[in-house]
Amino acid sequence: MNTQEGLRVLVSSKVLASTVIRLAAEISRDYREKNPLLIGILTGSFVFMADLIRQLDFPLELDFVRLTSYGRSTQTSGCVKIVQGLRSLVKSRHVLVVEDIVDTGTTLAFLLDYLKKKKPASLKLCALLDKPSRRRVPVTIDYLGINVPDKFLVGYGLDCDEKYRNLPDIRVLEE
Ligand code: IMP
Ligand code: MG
Repeated sequence: MNTQEGLRVLVSSKVLASTVIRLAAEISRDYREKNPLLIGILTGSFVFMADLIRQLDFPLELDFVRLTSYGRSTQTSGCVKIVQGLRSLVKSRHVLVVEDIVDTGTTLAFLLDYLKKKKPASLKLCALLDKPSRRRVPVTIDYLGINVPDKFLVGYGLDCDEKYRNLPDIRVLEE
């Protein structure tokens, strides 16, 4: 049985590819001369990050943080912790945070606040997906891919209990 059996496609791999190209064009325009530090949030953003950076043809550096807020369920716990920190210095760097999906905003608000205290030269956010109807904490998304409805989504890095990350498109887990 295929892992995606019975799950409706919300965003196809073709639409994901064109969205990544558009975002990369916007980011290139703003960061070409800045040697930015891209910070991905593990694990969900790794597929998006991998596709995004291969559309960026200028010098950049990469780092990842691992945060927890969800535990192993589909509901946010509201409490964010850094489980694996940065290896790079953030001070005076042009930092672009790369995230798979902004839901309540709790995770991003925490991370952006944490990074701001390290005095970067600039700090912006790129998110592939946004679920604005679920927002509890305001977050400014500087580079946004696609607005999505309030459904639990899997694929293209997004998981449910660590499964489905390998799907090439984004699918709805619970209808
Ligand atoms: P927030 O702190 O509520 O904004 O949650 C953000 C994090 O929750 C994202 O980085 C995802 O890892 C996870 N998340 C939110 N919505 C979904 C979803 O629909 N599918 C899978 N993970 C999700
Ligand atoms: Mg995440």
